[in-house]
Amino acid sequence: MKRVLSGIQPSGQLHLGNYFGMMSRMIHYQEKNDLFCFIVNYHAMTTMQDGSLLKENTMNAAMDFLSLGMDPEKSTFWIQSDVPQVAELTWILSVVTSVGLMERGTSYKDKLAKGLKANMGLFSYPILMASDILLFGGEIVPVGKDQKQHLEMTRDIAIRFNQTFGDVLVVPEPDIEKDTQLVPGLDGQKMSKSYNNTIPIFDNEKIIKKKVMSIITDSTGVNEVKNTDCTLFKIYCLFLDKNGKNELKDKFQTPGTGYGEIKKELFSTIMDHFEPFRNQRTFYEQHQDNVHDILKLGAKKATQVAETFLTPVRDATGLNYRV
Ligand code: ADP
Ligand code: TRP
Repeated sequence: MKRVLSGIQPSGQLHLGNYFGMMSRMIHYQEKNDLFCFIVNYHAMTTMQDGSLLKENTMNAAMDFLSLGMDPEKSTFWIQSDVPQVAELTWILSVVTSVGLMERGTSYKDKLAKGLKANMGLFSYPILMASDILLFGGEIVPVGKDQKQHLEMTRDIAIRFNQTFGDVLVVPEPDIEKDTQLVPGLDGQKMSKSYNNTIPIFDNEKIIKKKVMSIITDSTGVNEVKNTDCTLFKIYCLFLDKNGKNELKDKFQTPGTGYGEIKKELFSTIMDHFEPFRNQRTFYEQHQDNVHDILKLGAKKATQVAETFLTPVRDATGLNYRV
């Protein structure tokens, strides 16, 4: 059994990009793997410094994941800050990480370009992410394409640590799926909480409908052939199997159906897809104590595993001076 591990930031409402790029894949993987999944609230603090909002988003992200099928019996599911050993390993890893490696971070540079202030947390974000993975011996890390460079950095850091202190850390492999690696948002850019272009997984029907209807399309008329290389087609395809995709392609290429009609169909498809999970979401909303218990148990399991990886790190680096 492989150890599959990934995390998600509670920095806003979770959306279709998160769902297809990472969440549904993780939920699927828990059947045949040793799955570790967590909500990375330390990471979210690098861009969001509002305590009550962070609390609210953290619980919402946990409830979303559980409602969609994350099974705490099969997996280890917790909140990052409930295992603070991750901060200790971050420090240790930071001494084998060059400033240049962090300076090459495209996600960091993008955030600065968007006007975010360069705090140290934002700068060393990839070291905390490396620590998340290496603290639990993650072997396979399912993520979207935007995280590819962060995974390469994790590998670099692990290799450098092993060269310096001995072969202690597991070097992980990214797991990026071609069809879901970059889900476009309403405006055609990458769907992201920070671009205000998302279709949320759980929101009220009216809001989801409004968002779907606002997917940007070109001015091709109802009675013209439509180009399938567009956001509407790409988002719709995420919900379809091979036959469904061919039918959708025909619809685009046969004059007679307008974008408005196709958007309405997509909206119904989205509502149908998530319908079974909505009741579960309402249940957790009304039983948040259950969620706290699940997370507490997850943190306990994760802490035990963290200690088994941290002890050899402390030994190898000389921090464990008593031995
Ligand atoms: P966001 O960009 O919305 O803040 P996160 O950075 O929290 O999302 O990403 C959580 C996970 O979801 C990561 O594995 C990331 O690669 C994946 N992900 C986010 N947006 C997309 C997208 N548009 N397409 C595919 N995967 C995505
Ligand atoms: N940086 C990731 C993102 O923004 C979230 C993350 C933090 C993560 N720690 C991780 C993903 C460890 C995979 C493994 O999406």
